[in-house]
Amino acid sequence: MAILDREGLFDEDINRRSVPALKVHPRVLGTDGEKRFAAGVADMDYKAPPAVLAALQKRLDHGVFGYEAVPDGLFPALIRWLSVRHGWSVDQNHILRAPNVLNALAIAASVFTDEGDGILVQPPVFFDFFDILRENHRKLISNPLKLEDGRYRMDFADLERKVSEPRTKMIYLCNPHNPVGRVWTEAELRTLGDMCKRHNVLVVADEIHGDLSFANHKYVPFASLGPDHAGNSITCLSPAKSFNIASCCSAFTIISDEARRRAFQSENSRLTVNKNNAFASAAMEAAYRDGGPWLDDLLVYLKTNVDLVRRYIADVADVQLIEPDGTFLLWLDFRALGFTPEELTVFLRDKANWAVMRGQAFGPQGAGFARLNIACPQAKLVTALGDLKKAVSTRK
Ligand SMILES: Cc1ncc(COP(=O)(O)O)c(C=O)c1O
Repeated sequence: MAILDREGLFDEDINRRSVPALKVHPRVLGTDGEKRFAAGVADMDYKAPPAVLAALQKRLDHGVFGYEAVPDGLFPALIRWLSVRHGWSVDQNHILRAPNVLNALAIAASVFTDEGDGILVQPPVFFDFFDILRENHRKLISNPLKLEDGRYRMDFADLERKVSEPRTKMIYLCNPHNPVGRVWTEAELRTLGDMCKRHNVLVVADEIHGDLSFANHKYVPFASLGPDHAGNSITCLSPAKSFNIASCCSAFTIISDEARRRAFQSENSRLTVNKNNAFASAAMEAAYRDGGPWLDDLLVYLKTNVDLVRRYIADVADVQLIEPDGTFLLWLDFRALGFTPEELTVFLRDKANWAVMRGQAFGPQGAGFARLNIACPQAKLVTALGDLKKAVSTRK
């Protein structure tokens, strides 16, 4: 792994309040939250890679921002990235664009299922999945993950039952999984994929966290399992998380089945979502073309942050770290503290001064847990961990 000599790149304490960053916005932190440790919203406190900043600057310097086509280099940069980094060979004709990943998930639901159909999810899971299902009047089919010996696994017996129900038409697979940090193995994906294929359930793979897997945990793109699985799936991804450009990028949908791709494209056209944003394209192309070494450094830094949390938490009675395979989101188990979910939320906010995502937002299975975003400078994380330790040791 190439480690760039850029000491301190992720240590800079950047004032995110000088722009309307959601993570520190009063809408998220509350009006009394200015001093709170902002670790809820899933973005990073780091500047985008230098290559991305340079590309944006260059595009800005051009000064004309009329209608534009997609730059010639964007899809090849993505294709090369997926091939070199993840061993997945993608045909350029199979790539469609989307404004963002959630939009792609919602379009998939509306094109390939009908109102009242079931879409399966695996809670505790990213809360926006629930909102999409509700707002599109789809039925939530829940296949909760099992926590065994501190590690989350899929419950395949339950999955087989649920995908064999005629109303189940689609699954939102979160690979890697937000919030439990599992990078699903090839064997797990194959078992899931085989079941879905057997029962005619379309796999919609949200792989937005795919680039953020730690050493020894290989992210396997679901569609890379082979033509059968590729043919029964839609992959939604973007560089938003990997390069911290969520407000300055768009997303991609990769669909190898021609009929489905046409149907998806026709919905994109109906909704006129295909306009090109010059800055998003410039940022994405640069990220995929030149962002690799920066991402390698980032993963090392994030892993050090995980190690920090593990070390601190080891001394904090009744709090457990769920060991992540990847992502910058940690899932912490506070159940042994004996609080109700509401009491835990208040305790973390008022006693530890933490603004994290409450576990129950990820489904009832998340009660007693919280999601901690560790993509911040190490000094901030150390202070926050000290605050937690103090709060837990002095709780009544
Ligand atoms: C699993 C997952 N999917 C999608 C998103 C959001 O993606 P986008 O901003 O492209 O809609 C997030 C953001 O936290 C996420 O964690």
